[in-house]
Amino acid sequence: MQPKELVQLAEQFGSPLYVYDADKIKFQYNRLTSAFSKVKQLRVNYAVKALSNVAVLQLLKSMGSGLDTVSIQEVQLGLHAGFPLEKIIYTPNGVSFEEIEEVATLGVQINIDNLSVLEHFGTKHPKVPVCIRINPHVMAGGNTNISVGHIDSKFGISIHQLPHLLRIVENTGMHINGIHMHTGSDILDIEVFLYAAEILFDTAKHFKELDFLDFGSGFKVPYKKDDIETDIEELGKKLSKRFNAFEKEYGRELTLAFEPGKFLVSESGFFLAKVNVVKQTTSTVFAGIDSGFNHLIRPMFYGSQHHIENISNPKGKERFYSVVGYICETDTFANNRKIAEIKEGDLLCFRNAGAYCFSMASNYNSRYKPAEVLWIDGKGILIRERETFEDLLKNQVMIEL
Ligand SMILES: Cc1ncc(COP(=O)(O)O)c(C=O)c1O
Repeated sequence: MQPKELVQLAEQFGSPLYVYDADKIKFQYNRLTSAFSKVKQLRVNYAVKALSNVAVLQLLKSMGSGLDTVSIQEVQLGLHAGFPLEKIIYTPNGVSFEEIEEVATLGVQINIDNLSVLEHFGTKHPKVPVCIRINPHVMAGGNTNISVGHIDSKFGISIHQLPHLLRIVENTGMHINGIHMHTGSDILDIEVFLYAAEILFDTAKHFKELDFLDFGSGFKVPYKKDDIETDIEELGKKLSKRFNAFEKEYGRELTLAFEPGKFLVSESGFFLAKVNVVKQTTSTVFAGIDSGFNHLIRPMFYGSQHHIENISNPKGKERFYSVVGYICETDTFANNRKIAEIKEGDLLCFRNAGAYCFSMASNYNSRYKPAEVLWIDGKGILIRERETFEDLLKNQVMIEL
């Protein structure tokens, strides 16, 4: 998208504003499916948690995507967006047994990542097909908060507990139809991913009636020019070959599944915020925007570095700024970042604002959540209205004194 178009959208819909480029989402979806075109049955289940706006879900559905969900509410959002039950997989962690049962009763594929839950579920519902999430204990992921495959992780059933797992399956007579892993986000090295995949193949050999193998996600996307990213084409070539060979060896048709969030939507997103104040101190020039970590928490939460441009003055001379929010705590988006000269009232654009941005937004400091716009066929469509005071009060109950 061009800076001019973004400025125009902020004028039309106000700021702060999230904008998503539908073409970029389509491009990434097609890139992934092309990379794995040699696999007969491929399933891409978009990870709803990354960006859960129903219009975005509808868009992904129109491309043929399925959904990866982690809560019953995400399942319901998917159904609301028109996804059929059989295109949704549910991969919870630490949720109640009742919720798992409820989702299974709907007819959604469930993925269990805990031995006690597996035993309980298998005893009560031996006929319901279940996928098992294993933890291959392979360290991947750019940050400890998003690395989930290591030995200390709470996710998945440890590969070292395979004998116990097999005993539960045998004793309950339950039907295991899929094996899953997700080692973490921001995978830099595809060899590590392929190594984890071998563990998944080895595990799969213990189960005779599998329909799919789910390799999770964690593909790294670039955050700035020349940044490293997962080489999806290379991964596609290598993993497809290995998968096809495994399928032959296994002797039964298998679907290869992925569940990308970031890869599909991160780069499609732009977060636009207006500069309220430029504050020169003795050591720093702060650009204070009309937003904060209530709307975009990733820099404070993960230390993620979103590229920031001044789209009101894109050709201006570059100066150093610390970009900060209005929350009454440390609220820093960037420290001493080179940005084209900023004046009060200018519009800043944060890149890679598609994944884990709006979906992690809150009302902290009693601020409204921003509006969301989908840029599609050359125009911006409002896909979520900006909140109002009524939204803040909704569900609150005043008392009589
Ligand atoms: C089980 C599972 N699958 C998929 C994803 C999506 O990962 P990413 O956004 O890195 O593609 C996550 C992210 O947390 C996850 O926990």
